[in-house]
Amino acid sequence: MKILVTGGAGYIGSHTVVELQEKGYEVIIVDNLSNSYQSVINNIHKITGTLPDFEEFDLCDRQKTLDFFSRHQDMDGVIHFAAYKAVGQSVEQPLKYYHNNLTSLMNILEGMKKNEVENIVFSSSCTVYGQPEKLPVAEDAPVQAAASPYGNTKQISEEIITDTAKANQNVKGILLRYFNPIGAHESILIGELPLGVPDNLVPFITQTAIGKREQLSVFGNDYNTPDGTAIRDYIHVVDLAKAHVVAVDRMINNQHKANPEVFNLGTGNGYSVLEVVKAFEKVADQPLKYKIVDRRPGDVEQVWADTSFANRELGWKARKDLEDMMRTAWNWEKALAEKNTEE
Ligand code: UD1
Repeated sequence: MKILVTGGAGYIGSHTVVELQEKGYEVIIVDNLSNSYQSVINNIHKITGTLPDFEEFDLCDRQKTLDFFSRHQDMDGVIHFAAYKAVGQSVEQPLKYYHNNLTSLMNILEGMKKNEVENIVFSSSCTVYGQPEKLPVAEDAPVQAAASPYGNTKQISEEIITDTAKANQNVKGILLRYFNPIGAHESILIGELPLGVPDNLVPFITQTAIGKREQLSVFGNDYNTPDGTAIRDYIHVVDLAKAHVVAVDRMINNQHKANPEVFNLGTGNGYSVLEVVKAFEKVADQPLKYKIVDRRPGDVEQVWADTSFANRELGWKARKDLEDMMRTAWNWEKALAEKNTEE
């Protein structure tokens, strides 16, 4: 079984390639390395003992994408990660986000249709729920107006896949709505590699602890939550990666019950920013310097997943807890620092 993983050199993509290879899948990565590194592919090789095929090009290039699909008509499915994901940057440069995230998806779907590649798993986000009225949030909760062009590209992509599947029953889709993926592979050979100042909480925490950032800014402590800081559903990236393998298996084995199917990928547990900081301090055995600042515009107060549908239908469940997430994130940051001193 052969799977195309777009963005397979990226954070979630690389962890998914490892899980696919460990289940015996043959993987081809397409990545333009705009926010990732070729060395990640060698590190995947070190973990699994198998070097994935890799082609470096931009999926926004229609001709190259169609040519790729015509050369790989034997593929059994596509997992599409390749996309821009910085929320703030998407507000400043909306066209860049719409162009990149939507053009690539449309090119892929065209390539799939023309070459009878049937199955696509798409990286969506819990951002589509906005601030849900009911918690935990289930897949049938209404999609709310997007708070950023980034979030809007996720909603529009879900619609593009839904309409394409409606019009072509041989295109099958699974939309995976991620909550907050964090942590790194136990081997510490792959993990998150944020470019510049991290937007996300956990890389900011680990970079502060290693001394790259002076202190963490906690965005708001006046939310209507027990300690006043915002609550999210953090999920270990390896648990998340495993769900992609299950989703691909499900489509290949025709266990699909709707087209597209939609699943939440979270643990079902919500943790506040300060609880995450405390969990980090515990595993790192050191205090973290932080200050409370204003809320970040566009942030929701609290969101965590109802995972019962995904658990039941996929037979998948997140296994790792917050300490596993913090421990691997911290080990990864320390490994990066060691590597930099060696170089
Ligand atoms: C963000 C995006 C989400 C996207 C995800 C992808 C928004 C509103 N949401 O999720 O759409 O899918 O990233 O990576 O941007 N925090 C701090 N200090 C920091 C960084 C974060 O206090 O320096 C807080 C945030 O206010 C939030 C929590 O930590 O409460 C998690 O933030 P983050 O890691 O950025 O993820 P989200 O905002 O949940």
